[in-house]
Amino acid sequence: MAKKIILEPGRTFGEFSLLTGHTQRDCTLTDVTLRTTLSQNLTLKLPLLSAAMASVTGYEMALALGREGGLGILPARLPVEEQADMVRKIKAYEMGFVEEPIWARENATVEEILKLMEKHGHSKIPVVDRNNFFLGMFTRQHYWDTDVGLQNKATAAMIPFDSGKIPFCNKLDVAVDEAKKLLKSNKQRYLVVLDDHQRLVKLAFEKDIEKIKVGSAITTYRGWKTRARANVDAGVDLVVIDTSDAYSDFVTDVIEEYKAMNLKVPLCVGNIITYEGAMHLMGHGADIVKIGMSSGSICTTQREKATGRAPMTALMEADRARKEHMKKSGKYVPLIVDGGVTSSADMIIALTIADAIMMGWYFNRFYESAGEKFNEDGKITRDENEMVNVATWGEGSLRAKNLDRYGHSTIKTFFEEGIEGTVPYRGRLKPSIKKDIMKIKAALSNAGCPNLDVFRENAVIELHSIHSGKVVGDTHDVSVKG
Ligand code: IMP
Repeated sequence: MAKKIILEPGRTFGEFSLLTGHTQRDCTLTDVTLRTTLSQNLTLKLPLLSAAMASVTGYEMALALGREGGLGILPARLPVEEQADMVRKIKAYEMGFVEEPIWARENATVEEILKLMEKHGHSKIPVVDRNNFFLGMFTRQHYWDTDVGLQNKATAAMIPFDSGKIPFCNKLDVAVDEAKKLLKSNKQRYLVVLDDHQRLVKLAFEKDIEKIKVGSAITTYRGWKTRARANVDAGVDLVVIDTSDAYSDFVTDVIEEYKAMNLKVPLCVGNIITYEGAMHLMGHGADIVKIGMSSGSICTTQREKATGRAPMTALMEADRARKEHMKKSGKYVPLIVDGGVTSSADMIIALTIADAIMMGWYFNRFYESAGEKFNEDGKITRDENEMVNVATWGEGSLRAKNLDRYGHSTIKTFFEEGIEGTVPYRGRLKPSIKKDIMKIKAALSNAGCPNLDVFRENAVIELHSIHSGKVVGDTHDVSVKG
């Protein structure tokens, strides 16, 4: 007989509903922040990480996600120099000015501008007349504070230029450094550059001059120290030990040796799925613990090895370990849940426990992902308008053959634990992510939680039964239009 047979089934995100809490006046959607602290010197604006998978995260993904405030994790399968070069490039990235900003005409309706914002993921659109004369700035935040209807002219809901509230400068050749100073000295976090006739020339945003954060994965195999050091020298913000099963002596050794190197970059260690695994990593000094096995979209581990755990249960067990560890050591260890999170609804439930979420499938679908893009006929295309599907492959697939992640010291013992396939193309990252952020913020507001720390303390979630799941889980008893 096995040591233990658990008869309580494992749970996943979609089985729960978040209950509402008392929403105070200063906890509306626009007040909520999704900032998360992963270590003393690593805070992210968004609690989202892209998976350390060759099909998902390369330079483009890490840059795009980093610019939105999340964190791309560059896979350990990249050659060391290539990985470190990407980190160097991302850390040196400076956006500068938006030279050809998207604008709207003065006769545009609020609805038209909102559509434009949704398409591009922008939260500010300058309004100009037909001579490109700058009239004002339409910002989502300002619009929310007005009661202007969708069919009204956008000019009624914009911040007019003559209000004196728009930071601008008339110097066409303003240098990036000078713009930085101007951006820092105004509260609006943007700058409009106009010519002498008040015509719109370019824009600058504070968020584009902040340093972008990026992470890199390492393995537990020979050469990991060189890889870790090269990344740290390049300025990486987080090092991630990427293994499918981190509850092992090999991982323990790497944690201890990494700590002895005194590199001053936090170490995230994963993956584990049990209380004991989490306790073990925390006890050995992991700064952050990553959770998940068998829940990845491309994963066949359960099918092949019957090993793994439903992700919400794995997360709950890691949280139990975190509380116990905190009682003993006084140290709070952030948790990152990895695998099986595919929607804003999943993210919301995951964030009732996790400090951040790692996703493969979710990011794989975007233009910026590392996978090849295919047209309708299944041919590779670089034309954005033709893209229909994106290549995906697991790290344990034949294509990636990531031996290190799955604990094979030789190809002779390798077997597949992941598939190769496609995911539906979803367009650019920014507009989709902005929409999902809004949904997460709305849920926090419903729960009466202004930030993720309070959310993890105060959120109440409830499990569905098979019957209630049918009623609350989605639409029912109607034919959906279109
Ligand atoms: P997803 O967000 O559901 O697509 O899961 C992504 C996660 O799946 C990654 O971050 C890895 O932890 C895991 N993963 C990546 N490749 C494989 C594989 O080939 N087999 C099993 N799990 C994998």
